[in-house]
Amino acid sequence: MSLRDALRIPASEITEESVWHDRRRLLAALAASPALGLAGCAEAEPTPPPRRPAATPAQVRAGFATREELTRYADVTTYNNFYEFGTGKADPSRAARTLRTAPWSVRVDGECEKPGTVPLEDLLRGLSPEERIYRLRCVEGWSMVIPWLGVPLAAVLERFRPTSKAKYVAFTSLADPRQMPGVRLPVLDWPYREGLRMDEAMHPLAFLVTGLYGKPLPQQNGAPLRLVVPWKYGFKGIKSIVAIRFVARMPPTSWNMAAPEEYGFFSNVNPDVDHPRWSQRTERRIAGSASKLFAERIPTRMFNGYAEQVASLYAGMDLRRWF
Ligand code: MTE
Repeated sequence: MSLRDALRIPASEITEESVWHDRRRLLAALAASPALGLAGCAEAEPTPPPRRPAATPAQVRAGFATREELTRYADVTTYNNFYEFGTGKADPSRAARTLRTAPWSVRVDGECEKPGTVPLEDLLRGLSPEERIYRLRCVEGWSMVIPWLGVPLAAVLERFRPTSKAKYVAFTSLADPRQMPGVRLPVLDWPYREGLRMDEAMHPLAFLVTGLYGKPLPQQNGAPLRLVVPWKYGFKGIKSIVAIRFVARMPPTSWNMAAPEEYGFFSNVNPDVDHPRWSQRTERRIAGSASKLFAERIPTRMFNGYAEQVASLYAGMDLRRWF
């Protein structure tokens, strides 16, 4: 048996993917995204977003479709970044032992008319979960294709009626040392923080995730609620969110605070802008039967392949400066 064969997925694990196939009908039911009231209203720094809608419903639908091979459930759930549980890729998969994900509530405040601390069930009430197959491209040069389950971020944010002063959205993760052993170490300035410009947050591709492969989200992947912004590097996908704040100024973000010359606020996937210590031109896809070690590198695409949908958000911006 060749090494490659030896690394192939055992049949017992393939069943995970049959779950996903059942969920495909969800996609069929996915209607065009409704017009998003707030898209394009923010006069955000450093350049105002375009006045016209960032993406047509047809473009948004095209953004979900992919013929790329899915990353195996086993890899999605054992090869993780979640520093609250340690810096090793296998560390977060032990998170389930300590991270309690129910009851869970999210504090939403700042520049909005209806702030509040809302139980997760209420935050999502009336929003039917959608499946979206999005790529996750990590700044370290690997990527995955994952069938996520969740709701459009815009649909949740609109419930709190952000005002015209809301130019950015800031997200905060739980940071509880009793549940998250990594928080006891000064690896990052806890809690983990992320942010989006308002027009990015309201873009129909931005997604709040509650599950994957048709199942509830595992703790190591950011249960019970995490962000996925498919055209940005994976670290923008903040996990285990406990607070959302509408703000007037660009909010501090964890990786930008830790190393500003390496991680910018926007963090759009861009093969033309290298990380200071390595190239971003190619990625190693963790997918299907290919092993992590021996998968061939593939070219990284601008905006992670979502340029058609999102490039207009950054029209006129110098993406080398605003990386
Ligand atoms: N969120 C929190 N709270 N803490 C983290 O360490 N890591 C980020 C992001 N969200 C991280 C986080 C990084 S670097 C990546 S690449 C993705 O989560 C990884 O998501 P995954 O483990 O579900 O693939």
